[in-house]
Amino acid sequence: MGTTNLQAGFPVTRLRRLRKTPALRDMFRETILSKSDFIYPLFIIEGENVKKEISSMPGQFQLSVDNILRECEELQNLGINSVLLFGIPREKDDVGSGAYDDDGIIQKALRAIKASFPDLLVITDVCLCEYTSHGHCGVIENGYVNNDRTLELLAKEALSHAQNGADIVAPSDMMDGRIGTIRRTLDEKGFAETPIMAYSVKYSSAFYGPFREAAESTPQFGDRKSYQMDFGNSDEAMREIALDIQEGADIVIVKPALSYLDVIRRAKDSFNIPIAAYNVSGEYSMIKAAAQPGWLDGEKVMVEVLTSIKRAGADVIITYFAKEAARIL
Ligand code: PBG
Repeated sequence: MGTTNLQAGFPVTRLRRLRKTPALRDMFRETILSKSDFIYPLFIIEGENVKKEISSMPGQFQLSVDNILRECEELQNLGINSVLLFGIPREKDDVGSGAYDDDGIIQKALRAIKASFPDLLVITDVCLCEYTSHGHCGVIENGYVNNDRTLELLAKEALSHAQNGADIVAPSDMMDGRIGTIRRTLDEKGFAETPIMAYSVKYSSAFYGPFREAAESTPQFGDRKSYQMDFGNSDEAMREIALDIQEGADIVIVKPALSYLDVIRRAKDSFNIPIAAYNVSGEYSMIKAAAQPGWLDGEKVMVEVLTSIKRAGADVIITYFAKEAARIL
C-alpha cells in the first residue's frame, strides 16, 4: 500500500514494540474469529437414534433426525446459529428422486428442525450426488452428466427445500445455469426472499474424500472433472462468480479453502458480495490425523487455519471445526 513509504526505518521503527505483550498483541490483531463466522455441516440419515461416527472424520457423525435435534440444541448452546444440511436417503435411483421427495430425509429434517429451533439458520446443500445410484451430481446420458436436464431437477430440489423451511439454499452441483434456473423457480413459487448461497467456485478436489464416506456419495464410475473446476484455474473461478452473481447468487462459496486461499482473496478483491469458504472434509481429517499421534497441536493448528481463511477474505467459514472452535473462543 502507498502508506508504507511514509514509515521511518530502523531504529525509529521497531515492529516488535507492538508484539511485546499479550495485551498489545490482542489489541492490534487484524483478524479475529467469532462464532458467527461459522456454519456447521450435518449429515442426516434415516432411522431412529442413529449416531454413527464417520471413520475418516473423527468427531463427526451421521445422525438420525432425533439426534439432529439434540445436536441443534448443543450448537445453539455453544453459540453457533447456522447449519448446512446433507441428506443420506434410504434409497437411491438414477434421477435422485429422494432429493425432491416431500418425505425425503432433508425435508423431514427441515420440518423437525424448524419446529423446534425456528431461529437457527438452516442452509441446505442442493445436489443430486447423495441421491443418485451412480453417485454423480446430475442425470447421466451416454456416460455424461446432461446439464440442462439436471437443471430442472435441481430447481425442484431447491424449491422443495424452501417449501419445507430452508432459510438458504446452496447449490453445489456445478451445472451451468443452475443459479438462474433456481432463482426463477423460487421467485415464481413465492420464495423470492430465499437467498441462494452458490458454490460458485468448486474445484474437483481430492480433499473431498472423507465427505464421500460421510455422505455415501462416491461416483460409481469416472470422476467429477467434467463439471467441477480444474485446480490449476483461477481466472475461470472469477468467471464462475461473475455468472452466478448475474444469475442471482446472494453469497458465493469458494471450495476447498486451504489450497485456494489465493482464490478467496481474489474473489474478495474482485466482487462486492459475501464470500463463504468451505474448509472441507479432507482439510479437517488431515489435522485430526496429525494431532492424534501428537505430531501437531490440533487446537492451535485449527485456530491458525481458520484465521488464515478469514484473513484471506472469507466472510463466513463452513467448517467441521465449528463446535471445537466455538468452545475455545
Ligand atoms: C456435493 C458436495 C461435496 C461436498 C459438499 N457438497 C462433495 C463432492 O463434490 O464430491 C464436499 C464437502 C467436504 O469435503 O467437506 N454435494
